[in-house]
Amino acid sequence: MPEVNDLNIQAVKENFDAALRAVSNLEELDEIRVRFTGKKGDLTLLLRGLGKLPPEQRKEAGQEVNKLRDEIEHELEITGKKIRDSENEKKEINERIDVTLSEKGRTAGAFHPVMQTMHEIANIMQGLGYSVATGPEKEEEFYNFECLNVPSWHPARDMQDTFYFPDGTLLRTHTSPVQIRSMLKYGAPLRIICPGKVYRRDNDTTHSPMFNQMEGLLIDKNVPFSVMKGTMSEMLNAFFGRSLKYRFRASYFPFTEPSMELDIECVECSGHDEHCRVCHGTGWLEVVGMGMVHPNVIRAGKIDPEIYNGFAFGIGLDRMAMLKYGISDLRLLFDGNVSYFMSGFNSGRR
Ligand code: PHE
Repeated sequence: MPEVNDLNIQAVKENFDAALRAVSNLEELDEIRVRFTGKKGDLTLLLRGLGKLPPEQRKEAGQEVNKLRDEIEHELEITGKKIRDSENEKKEINERIDVTLSEKGRTAGAFHPVMQTMHEIANIMQGLGYSVATGPEKEEEFYNFECLNVPSWHPARDMQDTFYFPDGTLLRTHTSPVQIRSMLKYGAPLRIICPGKVYRRDNDTTHSPMFNQMEGLLIDKNVPFSVMKGTMSEMLNAFFGRSLKYRFRASYFPFTEPSMELDIECVECSGHDEHCRVCHGTGWLEVVGMGMVHPNVIRAGKIDPEIYNGFAFGIGLDRMAMLKYGISDLRLLFDGNVSYFMSGFNSGRR
């Protein structure tokens, strides 16, 4: 039982002050509250001790103890409020949403690289005055081959290359039938592109049975060969975002005459790496087939080839997407595992 005198009151006060200085949370504060103001707390003991004092000291000591109790209660309250305020502040800081933080990355809803490529090239071509035309994927031999000057004995018609349906229709092997459909529908002059899926009986590391092309057709009067070359280089420069070297190589397509293939300098090594995995050391990449439209094809489109001429081209969209976005294996484009595109897909690598 503590004695109640100045010193003892003083000791309780000092103990309380020291305990309060060390307190760091509300639980500890509660412990202090019990220790000093509880039923068995130091203050209660002091009060009880009052009765044992000589009567002449009792009054003064009682006042002292009451004063101390008021002080202690007041300080407990103030400290409690401080702790609560600072805990609230911490909570606010922790839970604060920083609207200036950059996004963590897109996890859903992005366009497939081939679709992005298709949109990019379509935008460029629309800027050059071309409109988007469409045609069916399940096509007739007539549009896919006949009208395109591909005679029935041509090897392209072979079952080896083409998926035929029992009724004699087929899955289009290229987007070129849309040339005919568009000429028949719109007449001349004409500027169209047609992006879409095409199908061939091919399946290995560099060929897929379904792939994407973009057809282009321009029909007008006195169209010079140079416009075709200019259009193609314009499109490719805009697509790759820089001036590339081109090579126009003589080639053969039944529906164009003369026909050419357009090679661009290797976007990976620019011809400086003989072991380049993209161009295999040739320094060139074949990206577009094209040519001046064969008069028989213009005729099949019910346009007079004596008055009109033009050019057509077919772009391999999958190839273009791979080159632009640094995708090394064609099969990844058709794989269901999206994680590759989330992590390894480096848009705009140059
Ligand atoms: N249709 C051709 C192919 O699929 C490409 C092409 C289109 C060539 C237009 C010339 C003109 O290979």
